[in-house]
Amino acid sequence: MTFVISLGGSILIPETGKVEVKKVKGLLNFLKEIKEKSVIVVGGGTTARVYINSVKELSKEKRDQIGILATKLNATLVAELGDFSLLHPSEISMKRTLMRLKKLKYAVISGWKPGFSTDYVTSYIAHKLKEDKVINLTQVGGIYTKDPTKYMDARLISRISWEEFLERFNDPWLPGKHVPFDPLAAMLCKKHKMKTYVTNIDGLIKWIKEDEFVGTILY
Ligand code: UTP
Repeated sequence: MTFVISLGGSILIPETGKVEVKKVKGLLNFLKEIKEKSVIVVGGGTTARVYINSVKELSKEKRDQIGILATKLNATLVAELGDFSLLHPSEISMKRTLMRLKKLKYAVISGWKPGFSTDYVTSYIAHKLKEDKVINLTQVGGIYTKDPTKYMDARLISRISWEEFLERFNDPWLPGKHVPFDPLAAMLCKKHKMKTYVTNIDGLIKWIKEDEFVGTILY
């Protein structure tokens, strides 16, 4: 089994602008401790959003390219923090990335190409590695009825089918868009019958240690 993880960039670099080195190191050390093969795709976080939103006059493709650069910056930092191998599919191609992944035990991956998100990249890699699940780590640790950072009465959805998720959360793609899970990635998971487990770093560690999952299961 391989843990194929989408590490939301907002975990590494939230809106405070503080880089959460200790939190992310905790995850990387844990994955090495349990000795499971792990592939972590790192998002762009606040860095991507600040840069993308500062040049709204540029084309969507250019803004996505800027977002990809932010994922590369973040992925470089994460790989260094955990001494993981670092692969940039936007430079070496996805085909080569997948070939290299077959031989690596601990790898960090950045964004791939415009029009996508790192959730999509993670789902694509999981599918190509023949895994039946994707782990999506986000700041809020699950999918809620509404944005829990803004609404006190937001409720955690513990399980939701892909059909229902796509009905409720299928907004058009925009560079830097903040979504609970990218609808394009959701469509890929639905097509290939992969489950996605949305939680946060503590949730993932608890799930593995105590076999108790807190977050959202998309199926
Ligand atoms: P993500 O949206 O994947 O980052 O990539 P994130 O930090 O994980 O997002 P949150 O915090 O979970 O919401 C950042 C931006 O980089 C571009 C897109 O513009 C995306 O919004 N990007 C990323 C691409 O164009 N292609 C990719 O393959 C990856």
